[in-house]
Amino acid sequence: MKILGIESSCDETACAVVEDGCRVLSNIVASQIGEHRLYGGVVPEIASRRHAENILWVTQAALEEAGCTMDDIGAIGVTYAPGLIGALLVGVSFAKGLAMSTGKPLVPVHHIAGHIASNYISHPELVPPYLCLVASGGHSHIVEVKDRTTYHVVGRTRDDAAGECFDKVARTLGYEYPGGKFIDAAAKLGDPEGYKLPVPKVTGSKYDLSFSGLKTAVINLVHNAEQKGEKIRREDLAASFQRTIATSLVSKTMLAAEDLGYKTVALAGGVSANSGVRELLQRECDKRGYKLCMPQLEYCGDNGAMIASQGYYDYLAGKRADMSLNGVATLSLDMLSEGEYSFMP
Ligand code: KG4
Ligand code: ZN
Repeated sequence: MKILGIESSCDETACAVVEDGCRVLSNIVASQIGEHRLYGGVVPEIASRRHAENILWVTQAALEEAGCTMDDIGAIGVTYAPGLIGALLVGVSFAKGLAMSTGKPLVPVHHIAGHIASNYISHPELVPPYLCLVASGGHSHIVEVKDRTTYHVVGRTRDDAAGECFDKVARTLGYEYPGGKFIDAAAKLGDPEGYKLPVPKVTGSKYDLSFSGLKTAVINLVHNAEQKGEKIRREDLAASFQRTIATSLVSKTMLAAEDLGYKTVALAGGVSANSGVRELLQRECDKRGYKLCMPQLEYCGDNGAMIASQGYYDYLAGKRADMSLNGVATLSLDMLSEGEYSFMP
Protein backbone atom coordinates (compact mmCIF):
# COMPACT_ATOMS: atom_id res chain seq x y z
CA MET A 1 0.00 0.00 0.00
CA LYS A 2 1.27 3.48 -0.90
CA ILE A 3 1.06 6.20 1.76
CA LEU A 4 1.43 9.92 1.09
CA GLY A 5 3.31 11.47 4.05
CA ILE A 6 3.06 15.20 4.78
CA GLU A 7 5.39 16.99 7.24
CA SER A 8 5.32 20.69 8.23
CA SER A 9 6.07 20.74 11.97
CA CYS A 10 9.06 23.10 11.85
CA ASP A 11 10.97 24.61 8.95
CA GLU A 12 10.83 21.88 6.30
CA THR A 13 7.81 21.49 4.03
CA ALA A 14 8.04 17.84 3.04
CA CYS A 15 6.01 15.22 1.23
CA ALA A 16 6.81 11.64 0.19
CA VAL A 17 5.24 8.50 -1.18
CA VAL A 18 6.32 5.30 0.59
CA GLU A 19 5.14 1.79 -0.19
CA ASP A 20 4.50 -0.74 2.61
CA GLY A 21 6.33 1.35 5.20
CA CYS A 22 9.83 0.97 3.74
CA ARG A 23 10.06 1.47 -0.05
CA VAL A 24 10.56 5.18 -0.74
CA LEU A 25 9.11 6.14 -4.14
CA SER A 26 9.67 9.87 -3.67
CA ASN A 27 10.83 12.21 -0.92
CA ILE A 28 10.63 15.97 -1.55
CA VAL A 29 11.89 18.39 1.09
CA ALA A 30 11.61 22.19 0.72
CA SER A 31 13.87 23.66 3.39
CA GLN A 32 13.40 27.23 4.61
CA ILE A 33 16.65 27.26 6.52
CA GLY A 34 18.31 29.94 4.38
CA GLU A 35 15.67 32.46 5.42
CA HIS A 36 15.57 31.54 9.14
CA ARG A 37 19.39 31.64 9.29
CA LEU A 38 19.22 35.44 9.00
CA TYR A 39 17.50 35.49 12.41
CA GLY A 40 19.64 32.82 14.11
CA GLY A 41 16.68 30.46 14.58
CA VAL A 42 13.28 29.47 13.23
CA VAL A 43 10.78 32.36 13.11
CA PRO A 44 7.36 30.67 13.54
CA GLU A 45 5.37 33.25 11.55
CA ILE A 46 7.73 32.98 8.57
CA ALA A 47 7.70 29.17 8.80
CA SER A 48 3.87 29.03 8.58
CA ARG A 49 3.76 31.38 5.61
CA ARG A 50 6.40 29.44 3.68
CA HIS A 51 4.61 26.14 4.40
CA ALA A 52 1.42 27.68 2.97
CA GLU A 53 3.30 28.71 -0.18
CA ASN A 54 5.16 25.41 -0.62
CA ILE A 55 2.82 22.65 0.41
CA LEU A 56 0.88 22.25 -2.84
CA TRP A 57 3.88 22.10 -5.17
CA VAL A 58 5.82 19.86 -2.78
CA THR A 59 2.91 17.40 -2.73
CA GLN A 60 2.50 17.54 -6.51
CA ALA A 61 6.24 16.94 -6.93
CA ALA A 62 6.15 13.94 -4.56
CA LEU A 63 3.29 12.35 -6.52
CA GLU A 64 4.96 13.08 -9.85
CA GLU A 65 8.35 11.68 -8.81
CA ALA A 66 6.65 8.54 -7.49
CA GLY A 67 4.81 8.20 -10.82
CA CYS A 68 1.40 8.18 -9.14
CA THR A 69 -1.80 10.11 -8.81
CA MET A 70 -3.99 10.32 -5.72
CA ASP A 71 -5.89 7.29 -7.13
CA ASP A 72 -2.85 5.12 -6.31
CA ILE A 73 -2.57 6.37 -2.72
CA GLY A 74 -4.06 4.20 0.04
CA ALA A 75 -3.98 6.75 2.85
CA ILE A 76 -2.66 10.20 3.77
CA GLY A 77 -0.37 10.43 6.81
CA VAL A 78 0.20 13.88 8.30
CA THR A 79 2.30 15.20 11.20
CA TYR A 80 -0.14 16.74 13.71
CA ALA A 81 2.12 16.86 16.84
CA PRO A 82 4.43 18.04 18.31
CA GLY A 83 5.83 21.19 16.69
CA LEU A 84 5.21 24.86 15.97
CA ILE A 85 1.46 25.18 16.05
CA GLY A 86 1.08 27.52 13.07
CA ALA A 87 3.39 25.31 11.02
CA LEU A 88 1.58 22.09 11.97
CA LEU A 89 -1.79 23.62 11.09
CA VAL A 90 -0.74 24.19 7.47
CA GLY A 91 0.04 20.49 6.94
CA VAL A 92 -2.99 19.30 8.91
CA SER A 93 -5.41 21.62 7.08
CA PHE A 94 -3.95 20.72 3.70
CA ALA A 95 -4.12 16.98 4.47
CA LYS A 96 -7.73 17.31 5.65
CA GLY A 97 -8.69 19.07 2.41
CA LEU A 98 -6.92 16.41 0.37
CA ALA A 99 -8.59 13.61 2.33
CA MET A 100 -12.01 15.21 1.94
CA SER A 101 -11.67 15.80 -1.79
CA THR A 102 -10.27 12.33 -2.58
CA GLY A 103 -12.10 10.23 0.03
CA LYS A 104 -8.76 8.75 1.22
CA PRO A 105 -8.32 7.82 4.89
CA LEU A 106 -6.47 10.38 7.00
CA VAL A 107 -3.89 9.08 9.50
CA PRO A 108 -2.51 11.36 12.25
CA VAL A 109 1.24 10.84 12.75
CA HIS A 110 3.39 11.89 15.73
CA HIS A 111 6.58 13.61 14.57
CA ILE A 112 8.89 11.71 16.93
CA ALA A 113 7.26 8.40 15.99
CA GLY A 114 8.07 9.44 12.41
CA HIS A 115 11.74 9.99 13.27
CA ILE A 116 11.85 6.51 14.84
CA ALA A 117 10.21 5.05 11.71
CA SER A 118 13.01 6.42 9.51
CA ASN A 119 14.80 3.27 10.69
CA TYR A 120 12.21 1.03 8.99
CA ILE A 121 13.19 2.65 5.70
CA SER A 122 16.92 2.12 6.19
CA HIS A 123 16.52 -1.24 7.99
CA PRO A 124 13.38 -3.03 6.77
CA GLU A 125 14.47 -6.01 8.91
CA LEU A 126 14.09 -3.99 12.14
CA VAL A 127 11.21 -5.35 14.20
CA PRO A 128 10.22 -4.12 17.70
CA PRO A 129 10.80 -4.43 20.57
CA TYR A 130 13.94 -2.30 20.65
CA LEU A 131 15.35 0.74 22.43
CA CYS A 132 15.65 4.01 20.50
CA LEU A 133 17.74 7.08 21.26
CA VAL A 134 15.92 10.06 19.74
CA ALA A 135 17.93 13.28 19.57
CA SER A 136 16.60 16.21 17.56
CA GLY A 137 16.42 19.99 17.70
CA GLY A 138 13.44 19.91 20.03
CA HIS A 139 13.64 16.52 21.79
CA SER A 140 16.04 14.10 23.43
CA HIS A 141 14.45 10.86 24.53
CA ILE A 142 15.36 7.27 25.29
CA VAL A 143 12.33 5.30 24.15
CA GLU A 144 11.22 1.71 24.49
CA VAL A 145 9.56 0.87 21.16
CA LYS A 146 7.25 -1.92 22.25
CA ASP A 147 5.60 -2.39 18.89
CA ARG A 148 5.39 -0.16 15.83
CA THR A 149 2.77 2.09 17.44
CA THR A 150 3.40 1.75 21.20
CA TYR A 151 6.14 3.62 23.04
CA HIS A 152 7.39 4.16 26.55
CA VAL A 153 9.75 7.05 27.20
CA VAL A 154 12.21 5.95 29.90
CA GLY A 155 14.54 8.96 29.76
CA ARG A 156 14.28 12.53 28.57
CA THR A 157 16.23 15.75 28.75
CA ARG A 158 15.55 17.89 31.78
CA ASP A 159 16.41 21.10 29.90
CA ASP A 160 17.82 21.67 26.39
CA ALA A 161 17.49 19.10 23.61
CA ALA A 162 20.75 17.74 22.20
CA GLY A 163 20.27 19.51 18.85
CA GLU A 164 19.48 22.77 20.59
CA CYS A 165 22.72 22.42 22.57
CA PHE A 166 24.70 21.73 19.36
CA ASP A 167 23.15 24.83 17.77
CA LYS A 168 23.81 27.15 20.73
CA VAL A 169 27.41 25.99 21.11
CA ALA A 170 27.85 26.39 17.34
CA ARG A 171 26.58 29.97 17.53
CA THR A 172 29.04 30.72 20.34
CA LEU A 173 31.84 29.36 18.14
CA GLY A 174 30.72 31.59 15.27
CA TYR A 175 28.91 29.07 13.03
CA GLU A 176 25.63 29.76 11.24
CA TYR A 177 22.27 28.35 12.36
CA PRO A 178 21.63 25.43 12.57
CA GLY A 179 25.22 24.71 13.53
CA GLY A 180 25.13 21.00 14.46
CA LYS A 181 26.62 19.96 11.13
CA PHE A 182 29.36 22.61 11.37
CA ILE A 183 30.39 21.34 14.81
CA ASP A 184 30.46 17.84 13.30
CA ALA A 185 32.75 18.99 10.46
CA ALA A 186 35.02 21.04 12.78
CA ALA A 187 35.26 18.17 15.30
CA LYS A 188 36.85 15.99 12.60
CA LEU A 189 39.81 18.42 12.53
CA GLY A 190 40.17 18.90 16.28
CA ASP A 191 41.51 17.12 19.36
CA PRO A 192 38.69 15.80 21.58
CA GLU A 193 41.07 15.98 24.56
CA GLY A 194 41.83 19.64 23.78
CA TYR A 195 39.42 21.05 26.37
CA LYS A 196 38.09 19.57 29.60
CA LEU A 197 34.33 20.01 29.77
CA PRO A 198 31.92 18.95 32.52
CA VAL A 199 30.16 15.65 31.88
CA PRO A 200 26.39 16.23 32.27
CA LYS A 201 25.01 14.73 35.48
CA VAL A 202 21.39 14.28 36.50
CA THR A 203 20.12 13.20 39.88
CA GLY A 204 16.92 11.21 40.23
CA SER A 205 15.84 9.31 37.14
CA LYS A 206 18.72 7.14 35.88
CA TYR A 207 18.14 7.60 32.18
CA ASP A 208 17.34 11.32 32.08
CA LEU A 209 19.67 13.68 30.24
CA SER A 210 20.73 17.30 30.71
CA PHE A 211 22.64 19.57 28.38
CA SER A 212 22.25 23.13 29.66
CA GLY A 213 25.27 22.87 32.02
CA LEU A 214 27.51 21.70 29.19
CA LYS A 215 26.22 24.50 26.95
CA THR A 216 26.85 27.12 29.67
CA ALA A 217 30.34 25.73 30.29
CA VAL A 218 31.29 26.20 26.62
CA ILE A 219 29.76 29.68 26.50
CA ASN A 220 31.64 30.72 29.69
CA LEU A 221 34.89 29.25 28.41
CA VAL A 222 34.64 31.25 25.18
CA HIS A 223 33.63 34.49 26.92
CA ASN A 224 36.40 34.19 29.52
CA ALA A 225 38.96 33.62 26.77
CA GLU A 226 37.65 36.67 24.89
CA GLN A 227 37.93 38.84 28.00
CA LYS A 228 41.52 37.73 28.56
CA GLY A 229 42.33 38.22 24.87
CA GLU A 230 43.12 34.51 24.48
CA LYS A 231 42.44 32.64 21.27
CA ILE A 232 40.03 29.68 21.28
CA ARG A 233 41.12 26.59 19.35
CA ARG A 234 37.75 26.24 17.64
CA GLU A 235 38.24 22.75 16.18
CA ASP A 236 39.54 21.40 19.50
CA LEU A 237 36.59 22.88 21.39
CA ALA A 238 34.12 21.49 18.82
CA ALA A 239 35.74 18.03 19.10
CA SER A 240 35.76 18.14 22.92
CA PHE A 241 32.13 19.28 23.06
CA GLN A 242 31.00 16.65 20.55
CA ARG A 243 32.76 13.86 22.43
CA THR A 244 31.20 15.00 25.73
CA ILE A 245 27.64 15.19 24.40
CA ALA A 246 28.00 11.91 22.48
CA THR A 247 29.34 10.17 25.59
CA SER A 248 26.37 11.39 27.61
CA LEU A 249 23.77 10.29 25.02
CA VAL A 250 25.39 6.93 24.38
CA SER A 251 26.20 6.01 27.99
CA LYS A 252 22.61 6.63 29.13
CA THR A 253 21.30 4.60 26.20
CA MET A 254 23.64 1.69 26.98
CA LEU A 255 22.65 1.84 30.65
CA ALA A 256 18.95 1.65 29.74
CA ALA A 257 19.54 -1.15 27.21
CA GLU A 258 21.45 -3.23 29.80
CA ASP A 259 18.93 -2.64 32.60
CA LEU A 260 15.87 -3.21 30.46
CA GLY A 261 17.32 -6.15 28.52
CA TYR A 262 17.31 -4.74 24.97
CA LYS A 263 19.75 -6.25 22.48
CA THR A 264 18.55 -4.13 19.57
CA VAL A 265 19.15 -0.38 19.63
CA ALA A 266 18.17 2.35 17.15
CA LEU A 267 19.04 6.01 16.70
CA ALA A 268 16.75 8.75 15.32
CA GLY A 269 16.25 12.54 14.98
CA GLY A 270 18.35 15.26 13.36
CA VAL A 271 21.33 14.62 15.65
CA SER A 272 21.44 11.01 14.38
CA ALA A 273 23.38 12.53 11.44
CA ASN A 274 26.25 13.34 13.81
CA SER A 275 29.32 11.27 13.00
CA GLY A 276 30.61 11.32 16.60
CA VAL A 277 27.31 10.02 18.01
CA ARG A 278 27.02 7.37 15.26
CA GLU A 279 30.58 6.10 15.75
CA LEU A 280 30.42 5.95 19.54
CA LEU A 281 27.01 4.27 19.55
CA GLN A 282 28.26 1.72 16.99
CA ARG A 283 31.36 1.01 19.04
CA GLU A 284 29.45 0.54 22.30
CA CYS A 285 26.79 -1.65 20.65
CA ASP A 286 29.50 -3.79 18.97
CA LYS A 287 31.22 -4.23 22.35
CA ARG A 288 28.03 -5.65 23.83
CA GLY A 289 26.95 -7.64 20.77
CA TYR A 290 23.86 -5.46 20.23
CA LYS A 291 22.33 -4.89 16.82
CA LEU A 292 22.32 -1.17 15.95
CA CYS A 293 20.05 0.49 13.38
CA MET A 294 20.62 4.07 12.23
CA PRO A 295 18.81 5.98 9.47
CA GLN A 296 20.68 6.78 6.25
CA LEU A 297 21.77 10.44 6.39
CA GLU A 298 19.00 11.62 4.04
CA TYR A 299 16.33 10.40 6.51
CA CYS A 300 17.91 11.84 9.70
CA GLY A 301 16.44 15.34 9.41
CA ASP A 302 12.76 16.16 8.98
CA ASN A 303 11.26 14.53 5.89
CA GLY A 304 7.98 13.20 4.53
CA ALA A 305 9.19 9.62 4.03
CA MET A 306 9.44 8.97 7.77
CA ILE A 307 5.87 10.27 8.20
CA ALA A 308 4.61 8.06 5.38
CA SER A 309 6.43 5.07 6.88
CA GLN A 310 4.95 5.59 10.35
CA GLY A 311 1.62 6.48 8.71
CA TYR A 312 1.55 3.01 7.17
CA TYR A 313 1.99 1.27 10.53
CA ASP A 314 -0.51 3.63 12.19
CA TYR A 315 -2.94 2.85 9.36
CA LEU A 316 -2.49 -0.90 9.92
CA ALA A 317 -3.12 -0.33 13.65
CA GLY A 318 -6.43 1.31 12.76
CA LYS A 319 -5.53 4.91 13.62
CA ARG A 320 -7.74 7.38 11.75
CA ALA A 321 -8.46 11.08 12.03
CA ASP A 322 -11.70 12.78 11.08
CA MET A 323 -12.21 16.37 10.01
CA SER A 324 -11.87 17.53 13.64
CA LEU A 325 -8.10 16.75 13.57
CA ASN A 326 -6.14 19.69 14.98
CA GLY A 327 -2.46 20.49 15.39
CA VAL A 328 -1.03 19.84 18.86
CA ALA A 329 2.13 21.74 19.89
CA THR A 330 3.14 19.43 22.76
CA LEU A 331 2.27 15.76 23.02
CA SER A 332 4.41 13.05 24.61
CA LEU A 333 4.94 9.78 22.75
CA ASP A 334 3.64 8.02 25.88
CA MET A 335 0.19 9.53 25.26
CA LEU A 336 -0.11 7.70 21.93
CA SER A 337 -0.41 4.37 23.73
CA GLU A 338 -3.55 5.77 25.31
CA GLY A 339 -5.02 6.56 21.87
CA GLU A 340 -4.64 10.27 22.53
CA TYR A 341 -4.45 11.86 19.10
CA SER A 342 -7.41 14.20 18.84
CA PHE A 343 -6.48 15.94 22.11
CA MET A 344 -7.10 19.67 21.87
CA PRO A 345 -5.41 21.92 24.44
O1 KG4 B 1 15.01 16.31 13.77
P1 KG4 B 1 15.40 17.65 13.25
O2 KG4 B 1 15.65 17.80 11.78
O3 KG4 B 1 14.33 18.72 13.65
C1 KG4 B 1 13.59 18.59 14.83
O4 KG4 B 1 12.64 17.79 14.85
O5 KG4 B 1 14.01 19.27 15.80
O6 KG4 B 1 16.71 18.07 14.07
C2 KG4 B 1 17.37 19.27 13.81
C3 KG4 B 1 18.60 19.33 14.69
C4 KG4 B 1 19.28 20.68 14.67
O7 KG4 B 1 19.54 21.07 16.00
C5 KG4 B 1 20.58 20.39 13.92
O8 KG4 B 1 21.67 21.22 14.25
C6 KG4 B 1 20.84 18.97 14.32
O9 KG4 B 1 19.57 18.35 14.27
N1 KG4 B 1 21.80 18.31 13.41
C7 KG4 B 1 23.02 17.89 13.81
C8 KG4 B 1 23.67 17.37 12.66
N2 KG4 B 1 22.81 17.50 11.61
C9 KG4 B 1 21.67 18.07 12.09
N3 KG4 B 1 23.60 17.91 15.03
C10 KG4 B 1 24.84 17.40 15.12
N4 KG4 B 1 25.52 16.90 14.06
C11 KG4 B 1 24.98 16.85 12.84
N5 KG4 B 1 25.68 16.34 11.81
ZN1 ZN C 1 12.28 16.44 13.64
